[in-house]
Amino acid sequence: MTKTQDILEKQRKYLWPNHILYYTEPLPLDHGDGMYVWDVEGNKYLDFFGGILTTSVGHNRPEVVEAAQAQTAKLIHSSTLYPHENHVNLAEKLAELAPGDLRVSYFATSGTEADEAAVLLAKVYTGYQEVIALRHAYSGRSAMGMALTGQASWRVGGTHIMGIKHALNPYCYRCPLKMTYPECDVACAQDVEDVIKTMTSGRIAAFLAEPIQGVGGFVTPPPEYFDIVSEIVKLYGGLFISDEVQTGFGRTGEKWFGIEHWDVQPDIMTMAKGIANGFPLANTMTTPEIAESMVGKGLVISTFGGNPVSIAASLAAIGVMEQEADPAHVAEVGSHLRAGLERLQEKYPVIGDVRGMGLMQGVEMVNDRATKEPATGAIAHLFEQTRTLGLLIGKGGFYGNTVRIAPPLTATKADVDKALEILDIAFAHVQEAM
Ligand SMILES: Cc1ncc(COP(=O)(O)O)c(C=O)c1O
Repeated sequence: MTKTQDILEKQRKYLWPNHILYYTEPLPLDHGDGMYVWDVEGNKYLDFFGGILTTSVGHNRPEVVEAAQAQTAKLIHSSTLYPHENHVNLAEKLAELAPGDLRVSYFATSGTEADEAAVLLAKVYTGYQEVIALRHAYSGRSAMGMALTGQASWRVGGTHIMGIKHALNPYCYRCPLKMTYPECDVACAQDVEDVIKTMTSGRIAAFLAEPIQGVGGFVTPPPEYFDIVSEIVKLYGGLFISDEVQTGFGRTGEKWFGIEHWDVQPDIMTMAKGIANGFPLANTMTTPEIAESMVGKGLVISTFGGNPVSIAASLAAIGVMEQEADPAHVAEVGSHLRAGLERLQEKYPVIGDVRGMGLMQGVEMVNDRATKEPATGAIAHLFEQTRTLGLLIGKGGFYGNTVRIAPPLTATKADVDKALEILDIAFAHVQEAM
């Protein structure tokens, strides 16, 4: 029995059977180094999904490893009951990077918790209960996370949280209003107001959205979208929550946070994934005024929130980003990646759309460019091909037909060229078989 077979047998026996595992034969990973990971059989892969956009400065980056090891030797755990130097230093650093007056942090361990804290804060601050999210969004796997999520397949077991309504997704490639940008006048943004007026009490606590939908397939709203929506949200008493779990930390290029591309100031931002290069850490940031509303409303504690080891890793990862993977670097390498993907689109009709920003690029696959029928078989084929050729990619989209390409932010143009070379061969095989 190979090591892979042994692991897969125990997986089947001892883990819940509903884990989603990539590839026909799932791929147990063993170790990583920079842009690469190795499986337990010793096969090497160029990682262009980065553990779901999480290893922001590459696998086992020495600065991150050393910072985490040093903190582990000193103090592994403190809980939020005791102030910790790392805690306040990271909060200070994030206040420097975040836009506007977003200055105060609440640390937790997952994106789900960060979104939960954001919605709770908005409800306490505004005194209203209802929340608007977007169709095709993803917000996590707690009851509220699933209720905020706009895809039935991710709402396991049904969700029962009232007061969350979903507006139309600004998904230009498959416009829900069957219109074309820019002649549409961004009519989908107006739907947020229609939803508030027809499906809520008329006063909302918040609008929560990802600047670029992650699980939704890197759907990127048109430039005017968030400006129009944020005005509507304000008009009906709500706060604007930008979920930066995937778009944070320079991922979209040029800016540290995705929403900054739309020139809109959120009231609350949530972040996780790339914040600590793989150590569990999340954060909900807001203004001092909004955070003040929580005082006297009840007790708040988090056992693992702001774990000192995760925070040491985060400070080190952000240090590396500032040195060699800042938003300017991501923009440059990202446009190189984008240009390469657009060349592939010219070559292969199965590529219906290429979208995204920076090092967050989606490739939507279709059986026919006219009908846009989702190419779910072809994407499965592409996955097996790229695996064989030594490249890891991600999958997403409401129809499960969008390739998500999101390497560590430290990726170079040479890394991108290597990935494009593999994608070219893989797409050729897939197209040939169609
Ligand atoms: C935009 C967004 N928000 C929230 C979450 C939930 O994060 P976590 O899986 O860390 O709970 C995710 C996870 O993919 C996400 O993509």
